[in-house]
Amino acid sequence: MTSISNISSPLRRVWHPIGRAESFTHEPTRFELVGEGYVAVRLSDEIRVFRDMCPHRFARLSDGCVVDDTIQCPYHGWQFSAEGRCVHVPAMGDDATPPPARLTAPHVMVRYGLVWVAPEDPLADPISIPRWDDASLEKVWIDPVDVKAGAAQIVDNFLDFAHFPYVHAGTFGSDKDRLVHDYTTERTADGWGFVVDYPHVIENHEDPLVAAGEHPLVQPREMKYQFQVPFSANLQLFLPTTGMVNHILLLCQPMTLDTTRVHMVMLRNDCPDDASKSAAVAYELRVFDEDLKILERLPDTSIPLERGQVHVRSDRHTVEFRRILERLVTL
Ligand code: FES
Ligand SMILES: [Fe+2]
Repeated sequence: MTSISNISSPLRRVWHPIGRAESFTHEPTRFELVGEGYVAVRLSDEIRVFRDMCPHRFARLSDGCVVDDTIQCPYHGWQFSAEGRCVHVPAMGDDATPPPARLTAPHVMVRYGLVWVAPEDPLADPISIPRWDDASLEKVWIDPVDVKAGAAQIVDNFLDFAHFPYVHAGTFGSDKDRLVHDYTTERTADGWGFVVDYPHVIENHEDPLVAAGEHPLVQPREMKYQFQVPFSANLQLFLPTTGMVNHILLLCQPMTLDTTRVHMVMLRNDCPDDASKSAAVAYELRVFDEDLKILERLPDTSIPLERGQVHVRSDRHTVEFRRILERLVTL
């Protein structure tokens, strides 16, 4: 049976976010991706990423340090250049020619303020975020959250809209939103993503005019979901009652079989200052916490892609999500 987990090897051929570019310094940092350890470090003023394993005796380079614009292994002090070439072996003396050892380096790019890594030649572009440079929207970053669930499960949940009245009854879920009306999904041109438009209603507890009696609690909400392989989603929200625009980006980093780091950033038009940003982050984390109560108790961290789960009409786009992942894992 075809399934996908955080360590499925086809995930080596797509881009994954590993953290904000500004968080990577001259201090080597270890991170996990698709079941393997990597080290990220700034050398020659650029972020470099290598497998976190010295070719000599396999020590972790992330336990080493930067010396003379090289990364130095903590075990025997071998030094590697920004290109990953061994340039110095202290035990051989200063005049010796170092062995032709090289660090394994994945593809790396910086986009949307994040570092993206593809262990092998990527098959698809990362998600394209239409309003990233829109000056009317503030970027509200949420610190990464490590979750005990598979990245596919987290994105499946993020895309799903039949769970709102149940899982999110404590935040925005409304009893009036139980029926999922008909909708269509549209594949993106490269075939590695889709978009879905879905207008519905929510309880808007974030709107101060509700308490004042000027706005109704139950308000219409326009939603457009954008998905891109493997685990990127952009939920574009618009509330006509308040004029609020909120695009929520959820970008998952599959780390080990059972753990996923979730990178989130919101693009909002109602967060002019630090206080409103903190309130928006706190609210979003409350919503996410509601999802985690389900996600972290699922029996397995992989998901089946063809048979093995029961789907209904209101799951149309999460079935489309499975089809795209199935295409990836069966290529
Ligand atoms: S293990 Fe890295 S220098 Fe020996
Ligand atoms: Fe949810």
